[in-house]
Amino acid sequence: MSRQLTSLLAIAAVCVALAPGQAQAATTPKKAATPKKAAAVDCSQVKCIALTFDDGPGKYAGTLLDTLKKYDAKATFFLEGQYAKSRPQFVKRMAAEGHELGNHSYTHPDFTKSEPAAIRSEIQKTQDAVKKAAGVEPKLLRPPYGLADLTVSDIAAEFKMPIILWTAGSEDWASKNVEAIKKKTLEVAKPNGIILMHDWVKQTVDAMPSIVKSLQGKGYHLVTVSDVVKGENLEAGDIFPVPAGWEN
Ligand code: NI
Repeated sequence: MSRQLTSLLAIAAVCVALAPGQAQAATTPKKAATPKKAAAVDCSQVKCIALTFDDGPGKYAGTLLDTLKKYDAKATFFLEGQYAKSRPQFVKRMAAEGHELGNHSYTHPDFTKSEPAAIRSEIQKTQDAVKKAAGVEPKLLRPPYGLADLTVSDIAAEFKMPIILWTAGSEDWASKNVEAIKKKTLEVAKPNGIILMHDWVKQTVDAMPSIVKSLQGKGYHLVTVSDVVKGENLEAGDIFPVPAGWEN
């Protein structure tokens, strides 16, 4: 995928597979227990959507994680390093419960107005904070405000990360209304969509049980961003979805 100099602001959504519970006949000789891992969801075969939560972990992240666990749904969290540092317990839990962790800078500056050294520092400090909290490093970058240019793309490539934007937003930060957030999210949901949400918006967290039930009722598997972009073969520095005017 080619890259061009431009500023961008984009939008997105996703899916997940569940490991079927496995009943073993009582008469079957006991074999060494093979860990029953969740089967990877193939989003080219089933309906997937990726819910993404930016700027956290917010203070309601625990409630959100409870909801996701209850409905066996996965999500992707684009974390702000300063909050990964101050709320490491949520970051640890996100990773342990199978959610994907992404890098959303340390203090949320506009990368297109930042010096390269500052961008590198923002990214690295967040990698370090997440690693310290959860033992894993993000493999995806979402720059603050979804703004990137060729410099940001080159730096993402240095960190071996693609840049992930979104196909649609829930507009939760603007409406801060449970019904409006649900309505908008269901309206913009589409197969392999990547939906922008925020776990610091209390109304988003309050709306989640209903949103998850509705999406699953429509046949969606709620999966991670990496699950939905698997077929895109993204390379480090690529931007997905490709913003209008960026293709060539
Ligand atoms: Ni943000």
